Amino acid sequence: MVVIGKVAVIGGGSTYTPELVDGFIVHRDEVQVKEVALHDIDPQRLEVVGGLVERMVRHAELPTRITRTTDRAAALDGAAFVISQIRVGGMAARIRDEHIPLAYGVVGQETTGPGGTLKAWRTIPVVLEIARDVERLAPDAWFINFTNPSGIITETLLKHTSLKAVGLCNNPINFTRLVAGLFGVPDEAVFLEWVGLNHVNWIRRVYVEGRDVSADLMAKVREGLPFYPFDADLVEALGVFPTWYLQYYYYPDRKVAEMRAAGKTRGEVVTEVERDLLRKYADPSLVVKPPELSQRGGALYSEAAVRLILSLVLDRRDVQVVDTRNGGAIPDLPADGVVEVPCVVGAHGVTPLRMGPLPETVRPLCQTVKAWEAWTVEAGVTGSHRAALMAMVTNPLVRSVDLARVLLEEMLEANREYLPQFF
Ligand code: G6P
Repeated sequence: MVVIGKVAVIGGGSTYTPELVDGFIVHRDEVQVKEVALHDIDPQRLEVVGGLVERMVRHAELPTRITRTTDRAAALDGAAFVISQIRVGGMAARIRDEHIPLAYGVVGQETTGPGGTLKAWRTIPVVLEIARDVERLAPDAWFINFTNPSGIITETLLKHTSLKAVGLCNNPINFTRLVAGLFGVPDEAVFLEWVGLNHVNWIRRVYVEGRDVSADLMAKVREGLPFYPFDADLVEALGVFPTWYLQYYYYPDRKVAEMRAAGKTRGEVVTEVERDLLRKYADPSLVVKPPELSQRGGALYSEAAVRLILSLVLDRRDVQVVDTRNGGAIPDLPADGVVEVPCVVGAHGVTPLRMGPLPETVRPLCQTVKAWEAWTVEAGVTGSHRAALMAMVTNPLVRSVDLARVLLEEMLEANREYLPQFF
């Protein structure tokens, strides 16, 4: 069993924090954390969420100390791991990111399209400030980024700071578990040739216990896989399996129609879920992660985090899908950009496997979205209006220059208070 000194959680008042702490409880035989330092700018959230995780830890009889603070430096000081899970502007900003594009017939979503662009721009100045503190107070810490859009934020950190940053998403582990369930094997028996970017990825081949089961999975897609939103003819044409978020790129018209018909945006739904969750969290008799937390999209997030932490600390050198600098892993994407691919994870950090060129059926979309990400990072860091326009125009969900200008003007203005780099 390995002992870790301090894990600092920035955005510790998030309703997801009990999920993370549950991961430390579940993996108690492998890892023990001496202190989990929760930082948040909202003292009330900190009290409610911190209170629950303290009870969880006590109930599980873990020796872990849970500390709470609104002083970021205090939380970061001496941390071995920093986990970032912030949401600049809160759910209100997410809801605006969803509504404004939708009014123009464009997908309104928190990590793709114009919504993802603005979420990145609100987040980048704050994340760079946090990074400066980490460079000063915990320069050897591993920085695990969950903050969305995860790939873009990780790329910002790797291009503009000296942090040992790794980006993480729960989609790879979710897909692994889906395949494991379909084939009746444990997660460890599944290997996915996962290629692309965060929220823009495809599975080239699916292996179970070393056997290529891609054709069997294809047969299951043809029969109709629950929760898999892609038509069999599309998957067949691509020759690879698109994952969840690609529905926004392959079916933008359907998604816009669905979003309009839903009446409520996802952010509005999540606001209600969070209200109920926080009410539950405040109940002093609650001592475990409540099942209602599974209504959020971040299922298995704790598993992904704990597996990554364990391999970094124990030098396991196993393979995990994370977000890291491309290098030459995918030769048809920029070397300095971030990709989401299987990586060897050990005490040295993460080394991406050389996945080779993208299949030609997906290369154009992946390259275009990568260009959007790079412009988004540049604009988010510099506040350049030219880079901002290039980001909007390059995004496959926008394309039109006239529309890009209108969206930019309205969305920058709506986010003015969070965009010091632009105003
Ligand atoms: C998935 C994505 C995450 C995202 C989450 C949204 O898990 O991989 O990047 O944060 O869904 O969940 P929510 O409950 O906020 O809609």
